[in-house]
Amino acid sequence: MTNAAIIVAAGRGERLGAEVPKQYLPLGGRAVLYHAAAALCGHPGVGPVRTVIRPEDRERYDAAIEGLDLLEPVAGGASRQDSVRLGLESLAAQAPSNVLIHDAARPFLAADLIGRLLGTLATSPGALAALPVADTLKRAHGGKVLETLDRAGLWRAQTPQAFHFDAILKAHQSVAGQTGFTDDAAVAEAAGLPVALVEGDEDNFKITTAADLARAERVLLARAGETRVGTGYDVHRLGPGDGVTLCGVRLPCEMSLQGHSDADVALHAVTDALLGAIGAGDIGSHFPPGDPEWAGAASDQFVRDACRRIAARGGRVVHVDLTIVCETPKIAPHRGAMTARLAEVLGVGEGCVSVKATTTEGLGLTGRGEGIAAQAVATVRLPPHMVKSS
Ligand code: CTP
Ligand code: MG
Repeated sequence: MTNAAIIVAAGRGERLGAEVPKQYLPLGGRAVLYHAAAALCGHPGVGPVRTVIRPEDRERYDAAIEGLDLLEPVAGGASRQDSVRLGLESLAAQAPSNVLIHDAARPFLAADLIGRLLGTLATSPGALAALPVADTLKRAHGGKVLETLDRAGLWRAQTPQAFHFDAILKAHQSVAGQTGFTDDAAVAEAAGLPVALVEGDEDNFKITTAADLARAERVLLARAGETRVGTGYDVHRLGPGDGVTLCGVRLPCEMSLQGHSDADVALHAVTDALLGAIGAGDIGSHFPPGDPEWAGAASDQFVRDACRRIAARGGRVVHVDLTIVCETPKIAPHRGAMTARLAEVLGVGEGCVSVKATTTEGLGLTGRGEGIAAQAVATVRLPPHMVKSS
């Protein structure tokens, strides 16, 4: 059994009135369309996803959906109804069992809503995401109330709307040419197809006006949680030896760093920055320097431990910026290897890590070659529900 999906994105967004159709406007760094498409593509119950677009938007579309696995888009029509019908017809050859029809302009499509809709199709040929009307309804004319309507039994229809594929294709084809069907449940209704109500989601609103786009930005901001920044600083003494370990990479040198563990001053500073970002003490409080367990230990385990503490709070490391302060060894030739290793230990991409080095022009403890210092800044994102307790 295949569940296909159609995303209608062939509108012009006239009510929003931006230079480009609203589904291509940026929202949290990606196009509005991307968010809904990613939700559908990433859902385990959803198979092929077809987008319906205006052919003249093709370049914008390609940029918007970069990285997603979608079917080749098809051209839409003059009305939403036409666009849906054209999308359904384009899927006919693949004969899916069910289809979800969704507006590109609804970016906050939750996976559990998709699941509830598909589940309902086991007992109903159609299912509609909807919310009960809470406000009192007035019919008015010329700015004056004519009457108060009974809101009992009234629902606000959202998308996705889900249907048995053959039934909704037939229903759409049978009303082709008739106008006034603003959603697919109305088309189903005209064809006598029962449609079950499924509880929708307040965040699954449609972006229609500029105020809706601003609301969408606020939703994203709230969902992003809190950004935390931590700093870390460490110094280790240099003594006789033949190399130093920095960021887990062995650098040849006429000296060695001294310390209880492998004395990787860079990773110690990073560990403290990570712990600082979540207010979880410092490296010494978790790995006491006198403890024989950590004698000669590889310092990547300290970083990994801090990362686990962040993950346990539902957070993730966004970025780490590290500065190593020393006269020797020269860091530049090893910077690539150190960056790669640090990214690997942190479990982030190399673009999320920065390794820099500086000297102190012969001044101070680093200038005199008595030791190496490192300082790090870690940026960590925590989810909204964890922010208060941590
Ligand atoms: N849509 C479509 N084809 C059309 C008209 C609308 O695919 N001919 C899509 C829109 O891209 C949107 C969804 O249907 O994702 C809901 O329509 P609406 O909110 O009305 O979007 P627009 O028509 O783009 O906006 P407006 O009515 O303000 O111009
Ligand atoms: Mg419209």
